[in-house]
Amino acid sequence: MYQTLLASLEKGLLTITINRADKLNALNKNVMCDLDALVNEIEVNSEIKAVIITGAGQKAFVAGADISEFVGLSTDDGKALAKTGQDIFSRIENCTKPIVAAVNGFALGGGCELAMACHFRIASDNAKFGQPEVNLGLIPGYGGTQRMVQLIGKGRALELLMTGNLIDASIALDYGLVNHVVPQDDLLPKAKMILEQIMAKAPLAVEKCITAANAVFGEANGYDVELNAFGECFSTNDMKEGTAAFLEKRKPKFKGV
Ligand code: COA
Repeated sequence: MYQTLLASLEKGLLTITINRADKLNALNKNVMCDLDALVNEIEVNSEIKAVIITGAGQKAFVAGADISEFVGLSTDDGKALAKTGQDIFSRIENCTKPIVAAVNGFALGGGCELAMACHFRIASDNAKFGQPEVNLGLIPGYGGTQRMVQLIGKGRALELLMTGNLIDASIALDYGLVNHVVPQDDLLPKAKMILEQIMAKAPLAVEKCITAANAVFGEANGYDVELNAFGECFSTNDMKEGTAAFLEKRKPKFKGV
């Protein structure tokens, strides 16, 4: 179904592997096209409850946008490229189902931007993060300047953006760029374990957590977004089920309505 992505769906959990290991999973046009189609599928396919994105091989999550596709581009071409990437990554960030980056090696440039667009990140202990675009006379174009500041603060972000230096997984953990660092063999099991916990919760409440948290950085007043979302929860069957289950001292059975 996808040219550059491997997809495996098991009990509601879709694992997506970006599959260009010989090019360290660099994001060329085909990968971006597949990621675009993937976000559509995640939204419309009710069998998908949560998503892990990782990279093929043991060396890289994604080593960046495909530099070979930059040659000969004009200012307008560059803007169009960034617009496409920003739109896809923004749809990942705003997806109604949880998407976690399982970062299994280099997450550089567009790879770091992809990881940052996911709802949170788990890294293997060999992972390296960075925005090395300045080495190419460029800056990040897929939302990296914005999300890096949001996630690790302006001072740390600007140091990474302006030096192009890479940080290892332990520093990424210290900065709050990733939530957990584990040995490579434990990476997918760890991501799966957390997503299984999330999938056991009320899906509409999970969706509203994403919407409200994203509103911190949007144009709307986040407190208004939160109170509206909170109110809407009271009209869901799952909220009635969750509160009834608590009061009846039993496990809730959520249905996503
Ligand atoms: N775009 C296109 N091709 C890339 C790539 C990218 N972002 N990153 C790696 N590749 C390719 C290499 O060209 C090489 O292809 P080849 O075997 O046909 O020559 C292959 O992937 C393996 O990479 P290589 O550089 O040989 O591996 P390495 O272990 O020596 O170095 C990196 C790993 C990540 C340090 C190095 O590949 C690198 O610096 N990549 C670019 C990172 C970057 O600037 N990203 C931001 C882009 S905007």
